[in-house]
Amino acid sequence: MQQLKLENKASTKEMLHFVFNRVLKQKWILAVNILALTLITALQFVMPQFEKTIIDKVIPMKDLRWLSLMIGGLLLTAVVLGLLNYFSSYYMGVMSQSAITELRDDLYHDLLAQDTAFFESSKTGDLMVRLTSDINNLQSMISANMLSMIGNLFTFVGVLVFIFIVNWQMALAVTVTFPLMFVIYRVFRDRIHAAYKAARLSQTKMSNQMQNTLTQIDLIKSYTNEDLAQSEFNAVSEQNRQDMIKATQNGAIFSPLIDGVNYLQVAIILALGAYFVMQKTLTVGDLVAYLTYVAMLQAPIQSFTRLLNQIQQALVSYSRINEITQAKPTILEPAHPVAFPKAPLGLKLDQVNFSYLGDNKMPTIKDVSFTVPAGKTTALVGHSGSGKSTITKLIDRMYDIDSGRITINDLNIGDFRLEDLRRHIAIVSQDLFILDGTLRDNVVYAKPEATDQEVHEVLRLADLEAFVTSLPAGLDTQVGERGVKLSGGQKQRLSIARALLKNAPIVILDEATASLDNEAEKQIQHALDNLTETRTTIVIAHRLSTVYNADQIVVIDDGQVVEKGTHQSLLDKNGAYAKLYQAQFD
Ligand SMILES: Nc1ncnc2c1ncn2[C@@H]1O[C@H](COP(=O)(O)OP(=O)(O)OP(=O)(O)O)[C@@H](O)[C@H]1O
Ligand SMILES: [Mg+2]
Repeated sequence: MQQLKLENKASTKEMLHFVFNRVLKQKWILAVNILALTLITALQFVMPQFEKTIIDKVIPMKDLRWLSLMIGGLLLTAVVLGLLNYFSSYYMGVMSQSAITELRDDLYHDLLAQDTAFFESSKTGDLMVRLTSDINNLQSMISANMLSMIGNLFTFVGVLVFIFIVNWQMALAVTVTFPLMFVIYRVFRDRIHAAYKAARLSQTKMSNQMQNTLTQIDLIKSYTNEDLAQSEFNAVSEQNRQDMIKATQNGAIFSPLIDGVNYLQVAIILALGAYFVMQKTLTVGDLVAYLTYVAMLQAPIQSFTRLLNQIQQALVSYSRINEITQAKPTILEPAHPVAFPKAPLGLKLDQVNFSYLGDNKMPTIKDVSFTVPAGKTTALVGHSGSGKSTITKLIDRMYDIDSGRITINDLNIGDFRLEDLRRHIAIVSQDLFILDGTLRDNVVYAKPEATDQEVHEVLRLADLEAFVTSLPAGLDTQVGERGVKLSGGQKQRLSIARALLKNAPIVILDEATASLDNEAEKQIQHALDNLTETRTTIVIAHRLSTVYNADQIVVIDDGQVVEKGTHQSLLDKNGAYAKLYQAQFD
């Protein structure tokens, strides 16, 4: 079982590789973008040349025709630049959005592939944050800055080369300030990373708290614990505020320090440049153009520092996303699946051992063996917590057993494709699963192509038809989240209708009628008898009146089989079953 912790810090290289793999797939858009960016860089170069030519040539020539030509050229270049900028920003947006959508879909896929155990050890609020705001963090890294970095890099390298050509002494003076920036970056990188990591954790806590309280709102209200929930929320919310302020503070110190280095560069250029102009080795036009070029270095540097900040933030998110993509499900498909046998299907458990903790630590199921012959019904009875539901989860491979064998027609269930296995088993689970949607949505979940006629048929069998037809919206009635608009018994009958529609050869009913009154139960019992008559069935029930007729009754106590037999033979034996029976009917 894999747990989501936030312990390993992923490397920046890994993250960029992960994200840009998806960007690089869009070859055409990328190519057009790079072309546009190259043109933008080239045109940005041309701009200061207009200034230089006007100052050094046109003004001394006093030629108005040349002046208007130069101004016209400058404006035209500006318009073309604007258009190119528009196209590249737009297509960069398209590119990053597509990459992120793909990433999000992949992540959701990886999440769905995890097993029950994974979800038991993770928190929904946390997973939601990973799928939403962590993904958004990656996106803001690519969209806002990262891609314009390509252009900035062009500008940066181009300008650097150019200023070296124009005047290498001044260019060298500018470059000696770069190591200073690097030192500042190294000092702040780890601090910023740590601050964002803390902020992420507190955001996750906040989201878990919200999820936990909003889904149990009735509990809070009936125990009038609103104040408690509020103060707990305020505490995590306050923690998040402090963490975010810390992260912001680190970013806020970082940027002005880098800006300071930029001003240092300007000061150096002005000092050296003024000196060269006085010495007449540099024209005033050259100096003005030079200052413009050096100013052009600042934009890339600033956006680079902003990017470094974002990279640290994205890195925290990437580590969290990575934990999902790296988590490997433990319920695996067989390497060489065998064909699923045709009904009739007989089910057999042979010395099955299972522990939720794995490795037979504190086993929940111990040496359990019993057979359910094809078409027959076996009832599992026993005290609460004895392991009955666990056994059904093992048959469906929600968990894999530690030792022993579970077979269908003598074939190991682990050798079937998971889909084959689960398609042939219909479970009405003790924990009812009701989808937020209409009544119809909930029934056809078992068979999306089912007609309304089929739906009505199973609703009739589950004794729900009268209720549905009495509703103004009928099958289109919304049931609410987790079926909050239905009664307990209605939810149960809806689950039965869904299982009926699945029409699987193996049926497992875990307390399927526990919430029904005797009258309703009798009505449904008929439908269930129809359902189980020809099918291989396991029924679990505390109310022993519902299991009299089972072909076999297996009594489970503390994870072990203590008795097996028919109702009558077990009563005659006067053991554990007889005791359970007397407790109910005395
Ligand atoms: N996901 C889980 N992780 C760890 N332990 C679990 C898990 N689910 C159940 N258990 C434990 O396994 C034991 C058997 O639980 P199970 O649900 O199989 O009992 P049951 O016989 O179905 O009880 P009931 O009649 O109350 O439904 C219990 O002690 C329970 O606490
Ligand atoms: Mg149970």
